[in-house]
Amino acid sequence: MNRIVTLDEFIIRRQKDFPFASGELTGLLRDIGVAAKIVNREVNKAGLLNILGVADSQNSTGDVVQKLDLYANDKLIECLKNSGECCGVASEECEELIAIPPVDDKPSKYVVVFDPLDGSSNIDVNVSVGTIFGIYRRVSDPAGPCAIEDFLQPGNQLVAAGYVLYGTSTLLVYTTGRGVNGFTLDPTIGEFCLSHQNIQIPARGNYYSVNQGYYLKFDLEMRRYIDHCSDMNLMLRYIGSMVSDIHRILFQGGIFLYPNTRKYPQGKLRLVYECNPLSFIVEQAGGKAMTCQLERVLDLEVNHLHQRATIAMGSPDMVDEMKEFVQRYSATPIFGKR
Ligand code: AHG
Ligand code: MN
Ligand code: MN
Repeated sequence: MNRIVTLDEFIIRRQKDFPFASGELTGLLRDIGVAAKIVNREVNKAGLLNILGVADSQNSTGDVVQKLDLYANDKLIECLKNSGECCGVASEECEELIAIPPVDDKPSKYVVVFDPLDGSSNIDVNVSVGTIFGIYRRVSDPAGPCAIEDFLQPGNQLVAAGYVLYGTSTLLVYTTGRGVNGFTLDPTIGEFCLSHQNIQIPARGNYYSVNQGYYLKFDLEMRRYIDHCSDMNLMLRYIGSMVSDIHRILFQGGIFLYPNTRKYPQGKLRLVYECNPLSFIVEQAGGKAMTCQLERVLDLEVNHLHQRATIAMGSPDMVDEMKEFVQRYSATPIFGKR
């Protein structure tokens, strides 16, 4: 039998790859792993506890908030506050950033951004949801509290990013910029165990993932590309939880699209909490992520916490093909650099 490698053990081993590592990032990743286990427990027993359903509020970007979103949000904030390895957090569910005072007078150099529960409309019907996170090194004066500029860094400055998928099994996938690894939660021992080492996205795949219900609301070039996917007999899969849709594409290949619509002229998905962390992971796995206007997502300027972006991400050859369609059919000439 192969020896089991737990997430904690793997993270500590990897720390040795960075000769001057202080252990802070290691501690932070471990704490996020703990929060993921707590959220997982609640996701699994949500029906039993009668915490399913919509809370009487909306999130700061106007979307309806499910109760479990708030629970996951609270748990992540609580774990990170107690961690001592993080000086601030920004969450999709909070209007403003939250500064975290040093624990035991030990200043911390990292901030964490997260979407505590992604795909929350799936909760009531027992379909997969996820958590997305990203970690930045702070750029503000370490003597004071964290500041907004710590969170408004482009995605190319991410130190680490990951997601947790609460699916048929619970998986944690993360990268620190040296490849992507996946861990499956073994509920019998309560540990995330290394299950997918050095994940590589296939160059192409048989799936495309887009909310085709909005087809008529997309720009011509996107409609043409979607027609092409259909002409190629690709299979359409759309869960409505970006984590779940990206997870399939990461393993089986394909392309995920969330273009601009009339309702969401800038796209719907949030750059800081959703697009940047998942783009970092997809690129680290050999994939590509660009906006539907052909900018590399990770290079986008971030002007505010809840900024939205359009996105096309997944298998590299398919993203390149999408780019050709945009260049060919766009009403306004676009000359994507990448
Ligand atoms: P969240 O539940 O965090 O608000 O995110 C939902 C997001 C994303 O996960 C998903 O891909 C997309 O919204 C679905 O949007 P549509 O229902 O407009 O397709
Ligand atoms: Mn989300
Ligand atoms: Mn969410």
